[in-house]
Amino acid sequence: MGSFSIMAAVMLSCFLVFVSAVSSAPLTVGFYRYSCPLAEAIVQKHVNKFASRNPGLAAGLIRLHFHDCFVRGCDASVLLDGPTSEKESIPNKGSLRGFEVIDAAKAELELRCPKTVSCADVLAFAARDSSAKLGNIHYAVPSGRRDGRVSSASEPLLSLPPPFFNATSLRDNFAAKGLSLDEMVTLSGAHSVGISHCSSFSSRLYPAADPSMDPKYAALLKGKCPSPRPASAGNAAAVDPTVDLDPITPDCLDNKYYVGLKANRGLLTSDQVLQSSPLTAGLVAENARNNGVWAKKFAAAMVKMGGIEVLTGKQGEIRKQCRFLN
Ligand code: HEM
Ligand SMILES: *[C@@H]1O[C@H](CO)[C@@H](O)[C@H](O)[C@H]1NC(C)=O
Repeated sequence: MGSFSIMAAVMLSCFLVFVSAVSSAPLTVGFYRYSCPLAEAIVQKHVNKFASRNPGLAAGLIRLHFHDCFVRGCDASVLLDGPTSEKESIPNKGSLRGFEVIDAAKAELELRCPKTVSCADVLAFAARDSSAKLGNIHYAVPSGRRDGRVSSASEPLLSLPPPFFNATSLRDNFAAKGLSLDEMVTLSGAHSVGISHCSSFSSRLYPAADPSMDPKYAALLKGKCPSPRPASAGNAAAVDPTVDLDPITPDCLDNKYYVGLKANRGLLTSDQVLQSSPLTAGLVAENARNNGVWAKKFAAAMVKMGGIEVLTGKQGEIRKQCRFLN
């Protein structure tokens, strides 16, 4: 009796160890090699097709992956539709893009290998293919993520850094996700592509221009962004135009973003503080100096970001459609 219960306890604990080892199995490169050999090629084909017509979608996909990974881990929670899903939160609503690329890739994947490739992996592949398209940056993506079953509109605001954060707050926000100061500065280089709505930085223009901004750049931005007025005050829909995040090479994923920061031409407060804070100025200078070194660090940091709090093994599910739970 006594030895039996010890045996049972040993077996139970072995079983538990086994289960937890499976469910926290690390991601592996080529996870779909046998189950869906064309998975990565299919995603790449769709990214290339959409991004050739509209390069902005590639920028959107890189941002989507970031917004997925920082909220509940890289579990495709950002892709779920619904009145109280992450999509509806302030950092996401009206500015995320690229969902149609994910939908198109996933639709073909479901024809070729039904219920096999997770939406979280499709998004990680798509962000990689977008980096290749916009910056000729290539890296292998470890995969085997599973899709989460929860998406809450209140969570992005708690986990994603807002554009007015200073350098120490940005550092702490990324550290909470296991990313270093260097990785934070490196990943901010994603702002070398894509756009921002005026509302994300208009406090740097009105009522007075931020003294840390190059006055010529401020004047140019004032010309593109109207002084913010409440939508209720007579003017119909509040207008919110968009501006390129990188004023030097807006469609190219490269280190010119950092060159812009050194010229005080960062668009968001969270961009310019990387240059103005002694904590990060040296890293900005390094990245501005050498595109090849930055690109290598960017690829490695994207892989690390793609591993944040992932679901694996039997956790979560493989969605049939990325916008809906099974
Ligand atoms: C460091 C903290 C960060 C802050 C505060 C931040 C904030 C923002 C904001 C406010 C926008 C513009 C949204 C709009 O008004 O339309 C934006 C755009 C963008 N962000 Fe970030 N971001 C950060 C880090 C990142 C990271 C780590 C990535 C990816 C690795 C990323 C990728 C992008 C991209 C590609 C765009 C352009 C999207 C498009 O054109 O559709 N950002 N970000
Ligand atoms: C950065 O922002 C935080 C939070 O608002 C604040 O406590 C801190 O003093 C700021 N740091 C610097 C260097 O301004």
